[in-house]
Amino acid sequence: MPDDLLSIEDVVRLTGLEESLIRFYESEYPAELPEKILLGGALFFDPAGPAAFTAIHTRRQGARPGQKSAPERFARVLAVTSGKGGVGKTNLALNLAIEFQRLGKMSVVLDADMGLANVHLLAGMTPRHSLTELLAGRVEMAELIEAGPAGIGILAGGSGILELADSRAQDRRRITQSLVQLEKAAEIILVDTGAGMGRSVRDFLQAADEIIFVITPDITSLTDAYGLLKALHQENLPNLPVHLVVNMVQSLKQAADVSLRFASCAREFLGRDISDAGYILKDATVSQATARRTPYSIYRPDARVSKNTRTIAANLLKKQQRPSAASSAFGRYLNLIKNGQEQLPQPRRKTA
Ligand SMILES: Nc1ncnc2c1ncn2[C@@H]1O[C@H](COP(=O)(O)OP(=O)(O)O)[C@@H](O)[C@H]1O
Ligand SMILES: [Mg+2]
Repeated sequence: MPDDLLSIEDVVRLTGLEESLIRFYESEYPAELPEKILLGGALFFDPAGPAAFTAIHTRRQGARPGQKSAPERFARVLAVTSGKGGVGKTNLALNLAIEFQRLGKMSVVLDADMGLANVHLLAGMTPRHSLTELLAGRVEMAELIEAGPAGIGILAGGSGILELADSRAQDRRRITQSLVQLEKAAEIILVDTGAGMGRSVRDFLQAADEIIFVITPDITSLTDAYGLLKALHQENLPNLPVHLVVNMVQSLKQAADVSLRFASCAREFLGRDISDAGYILKDATVSQATARRTPYSIYRPDARVSKNTRTIAANLLKKQQRPSAASSAFGRYLNLIKNGQEQLPQPRRKTA
């Protein structure tokens, strides 16, 4: 069988739903599910199946009688960023999405790293479409979102996102409008940005609801992270909440030390409050999982790094300040573009 077709066992594993429930949704919501594929006398699920089942499940959970809170109208957009590369942003974005999904939140990872777009690689997938095709009007946003592990969605950016950064205003509008559509479909969007303060990173930070800052105990990472924070501050980015994740720590104590040092620095010199979202231990499970092209939260759900990531997801859910059905993050960004600000402010350059 071609390796992108899925058996019922695969769908059970990927969605975390019971087989009986999947069968029930199949009979109840045929119009919302992709066609099954007949092969060698047996029926297989389309790769987009798990995400569709998860969507139905999430909606039904939200609509349970007696439960007051309706599902959010727009996704919470969390941009994962850092001062320098190699601190674990992509691993965090991907595995955090999986843990959010396990906590019942429809999650999508948007690969927005222009330098090294590798979310799909870590997820063991090959992107089929790119944003460039969206711009050319060949595909719709929904087709761009690929079903990833545990039923998360993955939106591979690659060169397409580059166009968002440098393209004509109308292209940027088109992509941003599509992202607003995405916000209506998902509950959480994790944007894996590149490091530093390039134009596209700033665009995405500007569009986000909140920022997840990844640092490591490594001294240059701390210095670079502080530099980025300062740059953000000077950019007059809307006063977005910033959550800190300390990655690759040796111990809880080290994580606490680093986090405290960074937070007090930010408070003292920039007058900004940083919230501590958690830490991840330095552990060989991460590279072992990468070698298998499987996210570590799937490869070893009970490994310490996976548990650390689950705690971060739970912390972030607790820290949600925005009321549900609030405004669209990308919608706000779109207004910014529409209001004649095609040229976003360039970063302030130091003259000395
Ligand atoms: N908690 C961790 N423990 C050990 N290695 C890690 C951990 N997090 C990330 N890594 C490793 O660090 C490298 C960079 O990770 P990646 O997620 O690609 O970072 P970034 O996206 O910030 O460049 C990879 O080789 C990855 O396996
Ligand atoms: Mg990366």
